Amino acid sequence: MKLEKFERYPLTFGETPIEHLPRLSEALGGQVEIYAKREDCNSGLAMGGNKLRKLEYIIPDAIASGADTLVSIGGVQSNHTRMVAATAAKIGMKCRLVQESWVPHEDAVYDRVGNILMTRLMGADSRIVDDGFDIGIRSSYEKAIEDVKAEGGKPYGIPAGGSVNKYGAIGYVAFAEEVKKQEEELGFKFDYIVVCVVTGSTQAGMIVGFADQGRADRVIGIDASGTVEQTRSQVRQIVDNAAELVELGRKVTDEEIVINPDYAYPAYGVPSHETNEAIRLAAKTEAMMTDPVYEGKSMQGMIDLIKKGDIPAGSKVLYVHLGGAPALNGYSYTYRNG
Ligand SMILES: Cc1ncc(COP(=O)(O)O)c(C=O)c1O
Repeated sequence: MKLEKFERYPLTFGETPIEHLPRLSEALGGQVEIYAKREDCNSGLAMGGNKLRKLEYIIPDAIASGADTLVSIGGVQSNHTRMVAATAAKIGMKCRLVQESWVPHEDAVYDRVGNILMTRLMGADSRIVDDGFDIGIRSSYEKAIEDVKAEGGKPYGIPAGGSVNKYGAIGYVAFAEEVKKQEEELGFKFDYIVVCVVTGSTQAGMIVGFADQGRADRVIGIDASGTVEQTRSQVRQIVDNAAELVELGRKVTDEEIVINPDYAYPAYGVPSHETNEAIRLAAKTEAMMTDPVYEGKSMQGMIDLIKKGDIPAGSKVLYVHLGGAPALNGYSYTYRNG
């Protein structure tokens, strides 16, 4: 596998910490040891998160293209668009964002707090549109790119989640090598790696990286999209593209792509009772903040898989925390009593 050939524009602090979660482990019976890889603490840029690891490999391409404006798309409470706005501010580019109405919400201030508040503070031109949830390429996104051109700008388009970009998965291929190095320092290996999946390039990158170590099937993707077949086919495509780019030297099999659809209910961005209980448990035992859109669902999935014994006693689990806590602000009514 060859990663040195890719240019990386540093946006993160570098290696992220692995934190032991003894109280959460104990609360789930104490038979499985849980650790968290804190991607949510990866940068000083507007609270960080997984998108920065992706953008580190996308930005050199944007700069080389001669662009002066980053264009992207997400929901109103998108972590991704917050990270694109942060990157644009940091590197001195302009930023045009389409924020779709992906989530039916009940909070009066949903479109003024959390991610979108920070996005606006960083100077991005953020425009809310009515379209619902879809991880694909949207006409509103294509129009935003054309609009920037018509206004005399030089756009560089980054699709939802930074996923369908040639270099979108490279950061998480490298993540697998980082985990391997940290395991050598810790003196043990993780049996399972749990990660939330929606637009796909985070898990896809990990699959390729861990495939190089012969353990891609130990990466358990917990779907939070609620449109799992679209996510699965996007992961498949990104895996194939990334495997070729990094010269993995073989095709990743379907068995190596593990995505569990059981926890995305009732819908993208809407937490179930079980999601909320998982968020509360992680908060009360470890002061680890997870959100109702993404990490709350992967936390719920990990908890359930441990309780059911699908992650068997004696295992060591690495829960990959991808960020997303700012969205909690848009759910103040749900958590008004904790
Ligand atoms: C906090 C958080 N967790 C998980 C994900 C899912 O990652 P991906 O879109 O790469 O599948 C995202 C973005 O969509 C996110 O913002």
